[in-house]
Amino acid sequence: MNLAELNKVAEAMVAPGKGILAADESSGTIKKRFDAIGVESTEDSRRDYRELLFRSAEGMKHISGVILYDETIWQKAKDGTPLVELIKKTGAIPGIKVDEGTKPLPECPGEVVTFGLDKLSERLPKYFAQGARFAKWRAVIDIGQGIPSYACVSANAHALARYAALCQANQIVPIVEPEVLMDGGHDIDTCYQVTEFVLKETFQQLYYQKVALEGIVLKPNMVVPGKKSGKKASVDEVAEKTVKLLKACVPGAVPGIAFLSGGQSDEEATAHLDAMNKIGDLPWSLTFSYGRALQAAPQKAWSGKSENVAAAQRAFSHRAKMNGLASLGEWKSDLEKKAA
Ligand code: 13P
Repeated sequence: MNLAELNKVAEAMVAPGKGILAADESSGTIKKRFDAIGVESTEDSRRDYRELLFRSAEGMKHISGVILYDETIWQKAKDGTPLVELIKKTGAIPGIKVDEGTKPLPECPGEVVTFGLDKLSERLPKYFAQGARFAKWRAVIDIGQGIPSYACVSANAHALARYAALCQANQIVPIVEPEVLMDGGHDIDTCYQVTEFVLKETFQQLYYQKVALEGIVLKPNMVVPGKKSGKKASVDEVAEKTVKLLKACVPGAVPGIAFLSGGQSDEEATAHLDAMNKIGDLPWSLTFSYGRALQAAPQKAWSGKSENVAAAQRAFSHRAKMNGLASLGEWKSDLEKKAA
């Protein structure tokens, strides 16, 4: 492992003013997104859609890295250029989702564990050769009656750490993503406590598996009330609680933290990130690694029609720019109104 090189890549992924585009929806998830805009999900439609994002010169100015799904990393643009080359030309780093989704955890009703370790050491060198310099593995923790259990949290943290160690051995920066879902009926303080439990266990397991923290990027959820609670927290409360929690759990050796959006509205995800960066005096960079909060608007604008490509690129560029500003603590809500 060349840790100096891993650290350089990790630092570039969280460079000021930029963040990560999570375009790694699995075939099932992208089908759901396309269903919502009335587009059939085929190899070509998925390629056309993703190609329009990577060809958005304005939007990509604010993107440090792109997480790809296995299908996409091997795909070529309509004119034959590999999609990976389109991404590299914009200055962004290609990355790859390597987990293979979740399966139920035995004896733990309602809980899942992420799969994909078995052949990982054989797959990683192929992804590296194809241009990937970072990877992603998502663990999913739900909050509900009596859950999460320690069995679920420790199994998921262990898998994250095994994945991260294998990535580093293959000169790939691991994005470590322990996602506590925001779907439940819990309040914001329960989200805080569960996320604290999950992050403490994750960093313990990273230590046991000898993962070098200087060569990872953490991708956590923010501290928010569950959707079904019907409660809203203010932007400042989310920002203050999330920063307090991260300071208590994430060592300063970690170069950066890139949040998932997790089902927040586009503007909430931007406002929360901005408010955290306005607090300032943080030991790591705080930026975005959004899927839905960057792509919902361009997907809607595109709706599968080639004549809408320019409008979709404008919608993507706008969200990327707003989130880029939020990563600096320089976003203002007026900027949203001006665009609308
Ligand atoms: P969302 O921002 O839509 O939560 O997606 C980010 C991601 O990559 C989840 O694994």
